[in-house]
Amino acid sequence: MTVKQTAIFMTIVCLALISIVANQGFSQGAGGGKALKVLTFKSTHETFQYMAKINRELGVQCNFCHNLPDYAAAHPQKDKTRDMIKMVQEMNSNYFSEDSERQITCWTCHRGAPVVESAE
Ligand code: HEC
Ligand code: HEC
Repeated sequence: MTVKQTAIFMTIVCLALISIVANQGFSQGAGGGKALKVLTFKSTHETFQYMAKINRELGVQCNFCHNLPDYAAAHPQKDKTRDMIKMVQEMNSNYFSEDSERQITCWTCHRGAPVVESAE
């Protein structure tokens, strides 16, 4: 093999490995994820973007809610979060206008921490 052929071959091997890793724990092509019950994302890309956002809003990493590497597996914090997502959706659709820039998010209460602050 020439240097160029070797480089192309190595690129293909790397891409194949990346796709195997990326497919672990959830099936791509099944919309935003095979175990979604509340979110209605059409692609895993959208799901990952949303997940990165709630990581920031709660100041946690993915493993706070997921048994890695299986993102579809059950987890107590995941159940709690499903309720939280439903609550936020209901608050926004019932009490805040859709085009408002100041809708409720996880940040509104959590402020970058998993446990919300109270006055006491
Ligand atoms: C605060 C909790 C929480 C954090 C942190 C979190 N997730 Fe999630 N994740 C969930 C919940 C809840 C669901 C299921 C949503 C539903 O049922 O609609 C989910 C679903 C997913 C799914 C879809 C799984 C499937 O096959 O159905 C993927 C992929 C995923 N999360 C990736 C991530 C990644 C990557 C991170 C870190 C960047 C992350 N999550 C951080 C709560 C979390
Ligand atoms: C209206 C305020 C409010 C909003 C908005 C909110 N939460 Fe919460 N959250 C709470 C309160 C209060 C608790 C503690 C009570 C409980 O655990 O039932 C809590 C607890 C949690 C917990 C459990 C933390 C722990 O370990 O005790 C998780 C996870 C969580 N919220 C995720 C989210 C996510 C993700 C969002 C955005 C989709 C969100 N919350 C939006 C008020 C809120």
